[in-house]
Amino acid sequence: MPRLSAATRHTVGFTLNGKPVSVEAEPRLLATDALRHGLGATGTHVGCEHGVCGACTILIDGAPARACLTLAVQLEGREVTTVEGLAPAQDRLSVLQAAFRRHHALQCGFCTAGILISLDAFLREQPEPSEQELREVVGGHLCRCTGYTPIIAAAREAAAELRRQSQTPAQTIALESLDV
Ligand code: FES
Ligand code: FES
Repeated sequence: MPRLSAATRHTVGFTLNGKPVSVEAEPRLLATDALRHGLGATGTHVGCEHGVCGACTILIDGAPARACLTLAVQLEGREVTTVEGLAPAQDRLSVLQAAFRRHHALQCGFCTAGILISLDAFLREQPEPSEQELREVVGGHLCRCTGYTPIIAAAREAAAELRRQSQTPAQTIALESLDV
């Protein structure tokens, strides 16, 4: 890795939700700030900034990571997915997102982006998760509102639906097909 000057902004190029982007970043800039303030990807929330609450979770090369513990310069050349990348169109939800909606698995929504990202990645790896496994995934996220029960119910339903359809979590349900 090239030696970076602490006082200089460097151009960091990576792929964000399938599109090439670049942002100017001092070496100390956090990925959360680069995403939110540099690129307008405000779906990634910031809670504790200590790696504890999980609100800032993103995918880096497909693996969940705490964006508040990641430097922006570490994103160079990587594929980054944020919650904005889960729904492939403005009028569509992923299977997992639709299940959250049906089960009222969010209230204030502050924790939701991170939980969706972690569960999306997990369901790709483990299409037949046990309730305990889902609880362990969600246990890495602090939610002050829901009591977690509807989140687990939504995750279980999404897993079943994905198995039934032999789809991936990126498969979508048109909003107009939902009973809203
Ligand atoms: S803001 Fe990153 S884990 Fe809480
Ligand atoms: S829905 Fe409010 S913190 Fe989880």
